[in-house]
Amino acid sequence: MSRIEQLIGAMTLGEKLGQLTMTAAPYAVTGPFVAGDISAGIKSGAIGNLLNLYGPDTVAKTQHLAVEETRLGIPLLIGLDVIHGHRTLFPVPLGEAAAFDPALWAATAHAAAREAAADGVHLTFAPMCDVCRDPRWGRIVEGPGEDPFVGAAIAAAKVAGFQGSNLEGIAACAKHFAAYGAVTAGREYASTDISARTLQEVHLPAFAAAVAAGVATIMPAFTELGGVPMTAHKELLTDYLRGELGFEGVIISDYNAIAELMHHGVAADLAEAAALALQAGIDIDMMAGAYGSGLPIALERGLVSLAQVDAAVRRVLILKERLGLFKDPYRGVGVEAAEIVAQRRVLARAAAAKSAVLLKNDGGVLPLAKPRRIALIGPLGDAAEEMRGAWAAAAPMTGCVSVVEGLRAALPDTKIDHAKGVTIDGGDTIGIAEAVTLCDGADAIILCVGEAANMSGEAASRAHPHLPGLQQALCDAVFAAAGTRPVITLLFSGRPLIVPALAEKSAALLAAWFPGSEAGNAIADLITGKVSPSGRTPISWPRATGQIPVFFGERNGGRPFNAADHYTSKYLDSENTPLFVFGHGLSYGRFVFSNLRLSAATLTEKGALTVQVDVANDGARAAEETIFLFSHDKVAQVTRPLLELKGFGKIALEPGARGAVSLTLRGTDLRFPGPRLTPWFEPGEVEICVGTAADRTRLLTATITLVAQ
Ligand code: BGC
Repeated sequence: MSRIEQLIGAMTLGEKLGQLTMTAAPYAVTGPFVAGDISAGIKSGAIGNLLNLYGPDTVAKTQHLAVEETRLGIPLLIGLDVIHGHRTLFPVPLGEAAAFDPALWAATAHAAAREAAADGVHLTFAPMCDVCRDPRWGRIVEGPGEDPFVGAAIAAAKVAGFQGSNLEGIAACAKHFAAYGAVTAGREYASTDISARTLQEVHLPAFAAAVAAGVATIMPAFTELGGVPMTAHKELLTDYLRGELGFEGVIISDYNAIAELMHHGVAADLAEAAALALQAGIDIDMMAGAYGSGLPIALERGLVSLAQVDAAVRRVLILKERLGLFKDPYRGVGVEAAEIVAQRRVLARAAAAKSAVLLKNDGGVLPLAKPRRIALIGPLGDAAEEMRGAWAAAAPMTGCVSVVEGLRAALPDTKIDHAKGVTIDGGDTIGIAEAVTLCDGADAIILCVGEAANMSGEAASRAHPHLPGLQQALCDAVFAAAGTRPVITLLFSGRPLIVPALAEKSAALLAAWFPGSEAGNAIADLITGKVSPSGRTPISWPRATGQIPVFFGERNGGRPFNAADHYTSKYLDSENTPLFVFGHGLSYGRFVFSNLRLSAATLTEKGALTVQVDVANDGARAAEETIFLFSHDKVAQVTRPLLELKGFGKIALEPGARGAVSLTLRGTDLRFPGPRLTPWFEPGEVEICVGTAADRTRLLTATITLVAQ
């Protein structure tokens, strides 16, 4: 008999339920409450897994309790939210999505996993796979942005990066399954109610990609979907994930989510809540205490069977075995060599630079040619702590490089004067006048504005996702003082902010998101031209809150926009288009595309073809461009989005150089959920659009014909 079956045979019910319980230690606070002293629970076997614990000594001491002082000596599984780095911080996920670079996505996950493993962490609650089209929702910062293809690409890269090929890294957790990003009105924890088609087309692909990449665990969302809380969603957790996708790993509830089934109104007491969750397919109860105290009663009432408990315990023990915890409960724990830590900072700097999106650069104001004096104005100019972003559980408050520090290091001969002007969301204008005086005689004026790090992330929805506080007043005063001189704006945020006036008046606008540990250095690399910006926005930037959701994958409808026809789809008081469209982003090069060609004019479901386009850099600087491949199925049995992303690639070119980008398009890429929501391949014409953004004016188009086998 295997070790696992022997253990299951030897375990009491209490010990089994302990393996299905995950309790929070107090080293990070990620929920509304934390547990008290956990030692007794570990020693009795009532707690078999922990979250929010890290640090070599702490982990070793705690693990020792489980391994040496419990009856069966089963090691603890320790999880932590290693979302965009552990102690070293990479850009927030929405920012890193802008890099459109799967190798980078995997590399930062790998580096974070190594760092976390040395701190005793076995499992990260990442990647967050929630596609979101609503910038009011604070958790948009944790995800891939608006597009399902990008979501799937990031999920696959992150799972591979965190886990390695055989779980030699740390276990990953695809969360929050599913459609959390569609919360009503972008309000955190609100219910979701979307069509089965939108669920399939938009919200499930990233999870399917995570499963295909071998993700070890999955976390259901807090939310309900059309009346069924995800924590009790048997159809999606068991029938879809385990049945259709063949997921064999562990499903972990979100923080206290099983007890919250009572708030949802589907369980009368904890025993019913526990039974619903177990029946639905949840193996580990995070922080609800529902399995420990509710399942014994549910068993007595006949709501669940012991075989169901055993099946969940088996999955948890298999994960512990796969992670090598039975062989070495202290796996990976130790102090890392200084060189490894230093290399990670180098990666963080490159990742932050690749994630920033140059939204505007009129007259080539950037890069700056060695100015004598810079006026650096705004509350984010010297705000190292804010650079950390939304999830920085283990990163110290100090240790990030602020913008002013980065610029001073990069430009030692430049005098850099800094003033905040206003605080991020305060109501005091007193500092504006003094800040504005810095503009006198400055050769470069840089505004540093945006959100605080805690204005996005969990429980951080915003009904007015504009510049907070009185920052717009500061900006207006600076624009007035600058006169005809160009103003460069660095914008920090965990979401696309609604900033049409700022965008109009700034000569250059750089969306830096929250760049992480190396923020200031990376920004200095971009501003000085040491690195050419290459980020492309993975999310549309609305012009007005009333446009939300605005995204490129919308459908035509029966009365599409026509400026000349009143009875068509439009606003009386706003354009339909976003301020900045998905894929938009400038560099210091000037790219020209031509000669879109396809290797075949027809495509079968099992076939593939190559899409190629020539690219030239006619600019004066080396730079990198991103090429997107979209499709549009003009006539099908169900309507298709106006553009669907099917691929992307990058090309780096020296000034004056030319090259070509090749992308593969398979017949299966053009399948969609058919009239009955089963995979559907419909013969007929499909447009293939290739270019730099989800905007027809920036795309070259060819047509292929899909043919039956
Ligand atoms: C969040 C999860 C997170 C968990 C553990 C919850 O509040 O929704 O994303 O992984 O806490 O920290």
